[in-house]
Amino acid sequence: MPDQYAVIGNPIAHSRSPFIHARFAEQTGEALEYGRLEATENTFADTVRGFFEDGGRGLNVTVPFKQDAWRLADLRTARAEHAGAVNTLIRHEDGRLEGDNTDGVGLLRDLTVNHDLILRGHRILILGAGGAVRGILMPLVEQVPLELVIANRTVSKAEGLLPLCHGVTRHALSFPDLAAEHPFDLIINGTSAGLDGGMPPLPDGLLADGGAVQEMAYGAERSAFQHWAAEQGATTIIDGLGMLVEQAAESFFLWRGVRPRTAPVITALRAELG
Ligand SMILES: NC(=O)c1ccc[n+]([C@@H]2O[C@H](COP(=O)([O-])OP(=O)(O)OC[C@H]3O[C@@H](n4cnc5c(N)ncnc54)[C@H](OP(=O)(O)O)[C@@H]3O)[C@@H](O)[C@H]2O)c1
Repeated sequence: MPDQYAVIGNPIAHSRSPFIHARFAEQTGEALEYGRLEATENTFADTVRGFFEDGGRGLNVTVPFKQDAWRLADLRTARAEHAGAVNTLIRHEDGRLEGDNTDGVGLLRDLTVNHDLILRGHRILILGAGGAVRGILMPLVEQVPLELVIANRTVSKAEGLLPLCHGVTRHALSFPDLAAEHPFDLIINGTSAGLDGGMPPLPDGLLADGGAVQEMAYGAERSAFQHWAAEQGATTIIDGLGMLVEQAAESFFLWRGVRPRTAPVITALRAELG
């Protein structure tokens, strides 16, 4: 039987991870199967343990279980420790589960490799202070931006993330505070406001000339934030699809020791989304 992998979350039917990993397996000739597991808060730990006891080799973990997976892991990588969240579980030979977080490196590869953006010395604004933002802070800080500003509806949550940005100039703000800010070179929308078709309230002039934006969510249509960015003259408008494929590629590499090519899978997934 091929090695077994899966993504666990709730809801899970919409997950594109099986599509992505099937393409990676096909491309690299790795013999594996990748499915979906649904769990509840009460069944998460038992479902994970059962999967590995039955011989499963690795799991991706998605909303809302990334913090549960962090607690469940027997050992954690530095980036998972930093993020306080685990999106990849790897089973070691001795049965211990290692937790890693590939979301941040996925975002970074999409920005810097797929879209050639330079972050060093630039001003970056992050909108939102939830689990996804937490996961991207360490790799962003490692790029040594000039300044990192986190703006969130609940400012205390943004303030709570500042210690994770140690080493760079950093601030936490409310959305109304942004009216007094100088323009940013890159704005990342890590809020889930787009799920209802909305976006955080942003003033005009917040994006520098030639600035770039990244929307962490993705879909067939441009989000309100992406439309706003186009009106503000953004030269690069990126959605979360590349980040999704890149974080999956990093998980695949951790499990199989083979790095798949992501560009054809991003193209295939884009076509699949219509
Ligand atoms: N592309 C990828 O691979 C990838 C990976 C992970 C996540 N994502 C996407 O990233 C987004 C955030 O995910 P998450 O896991 O971080 O969610 P989360 O932990 O639930 O955090 C949600 C964030 O959005 C803010 N928010 C929610 N509704 C808002 C509104 N109407 N106006 C302004 N702010 C609002 C929340 O503010 P408060 O703190 O004030 O509640 C919080 O900061 C989602 O769209 C998700 O799909 C993409």
